Formats: sequence, C-alpha cells, structure tokens
Amino acid sequence: MARIPKETVDQIIHHADIVEVVGDFVSLKRKGQNMWACCPFHHEKSPSFSVAPAKGLYKCFGCGKAGGVVQFIMDIEGTSYVEALKYLAKKYSIDVQEEEKTPEQQLAQNEKDSQFIVSNWAKDHYHKLLQDNEEGQSIGWSYLKQRGLNQATIKTFELGYSLDQWDDLLKSATAAGFELKYLEKTGLVVRREDDQGQDTGRRYDRFRGRVMFPIHNISGRVIGFGARTLKPNDKTAKYLNSPESEIYHKSDVLYGLYQARQPIRSEELCYLVEGYLDVLSLHQGGIKNVVASSGTSLTDGQIRLIKRYTDNVTVLYDGDAAGIRASLRGIDMLLEGGLNVRVVLFPDGDDPDSYIRKVGDQRFKEHLEGASQDFIQFKTDLVSREAAHDPVKKAEAIREVLQSISKVPDPIKRQVFLQQTSQAFGIDEQVLITEYNKLVRNATQKAPGGQSSSGSGAAGSNSGGFQPRTNNQQSAPNNRRLSPEEEAEALMYGASPEDLMGGGGDLGTLTREDLEPVPDVLELCEREVVRLLLLYSPQPLAPEVSVAQYLLEQLEGTGFKTGIYADLLHLCRQELEQGRWPEVRTLIQHGRSDIRSVVAELATEKYELSPNWTTHQIHVPRELDLLQTACDNAILRLNKVNVERELAVRLEALRHPTDEASMMENLQTIHLLKQMDNQLANMLGTVIPRASM
Ligand code: CTP
Ligand code: MN
Repeated sequence: MARIPKETVDQIIHHADIVEVVGDFVSLKRKGQNMWACCPFHHEKSPSFSVAPAKGLYKCFGCGKAGGVVQFIMDIEGTSYVEALKYLAKKYSIDVQEEEKTPEQQLAQNEKDSQFIVSNWAKDHYHKLLQDNEEGQSIGWSYLKQRGLNQATIKTFELGYSLDQWDDLLKSATAAGFELKYLEKTGLVVRREDDQGQDTGRRYDRFRGRVMFPIHNISGRVIGFGARTLKPNDKTAKYLNSPESEIYHKSDVLYGLYQARQPIRSEELCYLVEGYLDVLSLHQGGIKNVVASSGTSLTDGQIRLIKRYTDNVTVLYDGDAAGIRASLRGIDMLLEGGLNVRVVLFPDGDDPDSYIRKVGDQRFKEHLEGASQDFIQFKTDLVSREAAHDPVKKAEAIREVLQSISKVPDPIKRQVFLQQTSQAFGIDEQVLITEYNKLVRNATQKAPGGQSSSGSGAAGSNSGGFQPRTNNQQSAPNNRRLSPEEEAEALMYGASPEDLMGGGGDLGTLTREDLEPVPDVLELCEREVVRLLLLYSPQPLAPEVSVAQYLLEQLEGTGFKTGIYADLLHLCRQELEQGRWPEVRTLIQHGRSDIRSVVAELATEKYELSPNWTTHQIHVPRELDLLQTACDNAILRLNKVNVERELAVRLEALRHPTDEASMMENLQTIHLLKQMDNQLANMLGTVIPRASM
C-alpha cells in the first residue's frame, strides 16, 4: 500500500479548513463561535451538527459523530484514511508524493476505493473516446452538438461515449491492469450466463454505442453512469444505468448535485428536473442550481440531500398539469421533508430541456419566475379544476389538498395554507379545520403505535391539530429562549449555566439590574417542565422511576405561576391520577384552544432529545443520561428563578426601609436566598455536562 509521508499528512491537516471542508457537503450557518447545520449522518429537521472552527472539529449532538477534517471525509465518503487524505490534498492542491503504484496496488487499497478508481478510469476512457475517437466524434459528439450542448458543458459534466463494440472497455481496462472483479462490481462489465444461470465465463461491456453521463457523488467522484442510446429505433431502453453497487445507491443520488451544490446554496433554491438533458441544458443556459431525480420517483434520501443545501425547491417536471398528477405523491414527500415547494409547468409536450432550447435562456428564466406557483396553491387549482361542478369530487379534492397540508411540519405554514385553501374552495375555515383535524386524527390512529410520547421523532409530531383563530386565543408565550444549539454551544465553550440564565453574581457587587429577573424566564422554565412531561413522561430515569414521577415529586408542593402552564401541569397530574401517561395525543384534543395550541407547539418544537433514540439502540444510554440531565436542569432552573425573583423583591424592599427590625429580617432572608441561589448555581454547574469535543 502506498504511503503518504508524514510531512505531507501534516501539511494536509494544517491546510485543510474544517469549515471549508464540511461546507462542501452541508450548508453551515454561523451561530456564535460555531457553525451549525443539519447533520449529514442522520436524519434530522433541525440542526444539531456543529463545527468548531477554532478547534478544527465537528460534532453532532444528535448522533454523536465527531472528529476532525480527515475523519469527516472518511465518514461522509466512506473511504479509507489514505483516500480521505488524498481528497483533501486535491482540494488544497497539495502534492502527494507517493510511490508509483501499479494498478494492482491501487486496487488492493480497499474494495470501495477500487470501485471508485475503476469508475473514474472508465469515465476518463469514455470521455477520451468522445473527444478523440472517430466513432466517438462522428456519432457521440455530433449527437451532443445537435442537442445543443457545448464543449464547456460536456467538460463540466465529463460526458463521454462508449464504442459500439462488445468488449472495448473490457479489453482496455484489463490491459490497464484492472481486475475483472471491480469491473463487474461496478456493472461496467456484465457476465454472461447460460440458460441455467451458470457463469459461462464470457464477459461483455454493459454500455455500447451510447452517450455516457457519469454520475458523481457530492464530492465529485464518479459512482455510476447513465447512458443514452443514439439509435432512434433501438429496442433496448432509451437509457441504461449502472446497477446498484457498493458505491452507487440510486436512492441517495441526485444527478448534477456535485455541479449544482454551490449555486443551490448561493441562490438558496434548488430546481428539480427529471432528466439528464434537462440538467445539462439548464446549466448551460446559466441556471446552475439544478438537479435531476433521473426519472424515478423521489426518495427520502434524495430529499434529505436537497435539504442539506436549501429549504427551497422548485419542481420543473415535464409537461402539463395532468402529467404532474403522477408526481403528486413525490411532491408531498418534499413537503414532508420540510421543504418549501413550488411548481412550474411547461406547455404540453415540452420538458425543461426542449423548452429552454425553444424559447432561449432569457425567456426561460422569465417563465420560471412568472409561472412558478406554490405547490399547495397549484394542487388546489389542479384538483378543483378536475372536480369542477361535481360536489362529491370536490369533497375528495379538498381532502387531497388537506392531505398535502398535513405533511407540512411547520404549524404556522400549515395555518396559512389552511386559510388559503378555505378561500380557494369557498369553504368556511372552521369547516375545513374540522375536516383537517379528522384527517389528522385518522392518520395518527392508523400510524403504528400512533403518536407516542417516547420521542418518536418529527414525523409523528406533524400531526398537530389546528385550532380556529379566536380573538382571545392566548397564544403560547413567544419568548426569546436559548435554542438548544446555542445552549450546547455556550456550554461547549465553558459558559456557566448562570450565564445562560442571566442573573447570579456576588451579593457584594449586586446591582438591582443584576437581580431583575430576565423577563419571562420563569415562564420558560415552567414551559420546559411541561414539555418534558408531555413528551417523555413514561421514560424511565432509573429502574422504577419515570420522568413523570421524578418531575412531579420534585415539584411537590409547588404550583406554577404562569396560567397556562399551571393548567397544563394540573392536567398532567390528572392524567397520571387516572392511570394514564400525559400525552400529546390526548391533550391535543383538549376543549380549550389555548391548551391545544401550546401542546401542538411543544410537540412540534424544533428540538428533541433525539429523533432516533428508539431506532438506534446504541444511543439509548446516552439519551437516557441526557433525559436525566434535562429533568434536573429543568427543576433546578425553575427553583433558581423562583429564588431569584424572591431575592429581587427583597432587595427592592431594602430601598424602602420601614423599621430596623424588618430591615434586619429582610437582610437575613436575602442572605439565605443568596446562599440558596449559589447552591443551585453550583448544582446546575455539576448537572450540566460540559460537552467536550
Ligand atoms: N430514464 C431512465 N431510464 C429510462 C428512461 C428514462 O433512467 N429508460 C431517466 C433518465 O435519467 C432520463 C430521465 O429518466 O434522463 C427522464 O426521462 P426522459 O424524459 O424520457 O428522457 P430525457 O431526459 O428527456 O432524455 P431525452 O431528452 O434525450 O429524450
Ligand atoms: Mn428530453
């Protein structure tokens, strides 16, 4: 195995900037000293993946993956250490002086690397044939020219041509020293079998006489090919694609993403098309933030990929409204993934590729802007037109739209869509809401296990019911609270919990401002306890002690001061008394709209302890630790804020002394309260883990 000299390794690690390296794969946003993104290693809807530039480290607070630049590349690319170093060396133009290797040595590195290498070699081979070979030029090159593609586009996408022969690639690859095994594993070469399925020992090229579209992963490595026939009446499929392999997982690939990821990020929008040629034509026309689903229905993996780079996607599918009908399910999945979805239609018979060539770049761009429609709006139009004057169909149409709306994770957006829909169909909003809630309830009941409080993740929590807007609706307090990312970050950098809460300090140097309770901190503390009760009540903290038991015991004798949370606490106690766990599922049905509203908010709030703790057994102990910490923090903070409030009142009283005796008494109480406050601060300090990276 080729070795990279130690000095070179040091040089690479020294030059590689963690933010740049990670930033090629996810869209990082700065918050404080750290950068945050949705984790590329596990599915999540709110960011718990952080990069600490100063330390050169990344860490996901959700799934626990952590490390430095090299580890990141190994993790995300699934490569060996050496391959990761080479990737970084290439990115930073650092010469890697390794011993000249024979093809055999190269292949020995590891299975995946070998498949990457052979795919890359094949890409070069096909590309050369397109450029230099007579058949490649006269057939392949002229076809691409005729499709309007220029040299730059062909180069950017590394297009190629496979000769119309049975074994051109097979022979060339073997001559270059590549093992048959990897040619077969990547599907470039097919083994011939006899009638009984026995290996005949004969091998032939999969791709023959086709234009080759290499498919890149997000770091630009070739993992497979799409290949278009050039014979108008070919009996075989128009497109032939590489089979699944260790390096090519169709469901996790979007064609063109490697070339599109920076533009998607800077435009904050991703255009989604169906075909290879659509990507190429749009890219050439200056619309570079475009990727293709490659004709198959969208997968969760593909949606997650888009979501890494942007929240906004515009679907440019072939043809007219009716044509898109078949794609509605896939588009619902985009909504479900938390994306903002718009749709653009093209005149009947046109796809984005044919349309841009017909009208030109400028008019195409104008069309994108002029004809783009919010998806819910679009679907509403589509189904209401279909239902026309048929009341039965209309009811079905409305349910279809409500179905889509229920996929939207953001409750505020759902509310807006619901209002729009009520207007579009001319249906009273209240009636629509009733219908919506019915639909959601049915869906929740059908879902396996329904919506449980065991942190089953975001999917379940979308189904929060809706409340009619009433004038006196006491909406949930909308206070500034530290987001979990901010909090984790602050702690990571050694902030004390008191810093996070405000207040604290030494009595000697206290000013009134110091002790003035941060507005509504108390409310936030109470809210947090209710949240833990609602979402995690049945979880065991220790054998025989559930979250509910633990919290309520700690709260023994105290009531909440914020009206709505006092009511919710009471409701939780009632549920437990009747032998049920307090659950979102039941409380969301409560008669009071303000209760339903807060419950929906708590259930859909951005953070969860872990979206996948039930699926990944490995994480359970960690999560349980976190849960214990969360409960302890909630209680301690609540107590601390209460003490601080009392302290503030007492200090204020000092300013208006009545008689000496009561002043002395007051001072004594202040002293006691201050001691308690410090004690609580210390306890908080020991309870909160200082996350170390
Ligand atoms: N596709 C495929 N296999 C097929 C047909 C289609 O994999 N047998 C995929 C390809 O990724 C193709 C996409 O589906 O790009 C869209 O198919 P289609 O609209 O038929 O092809 P176009 O991309 O429009 O190709 P062309 O314009 O060359 O006909
Ligand atoms: Mn086409």
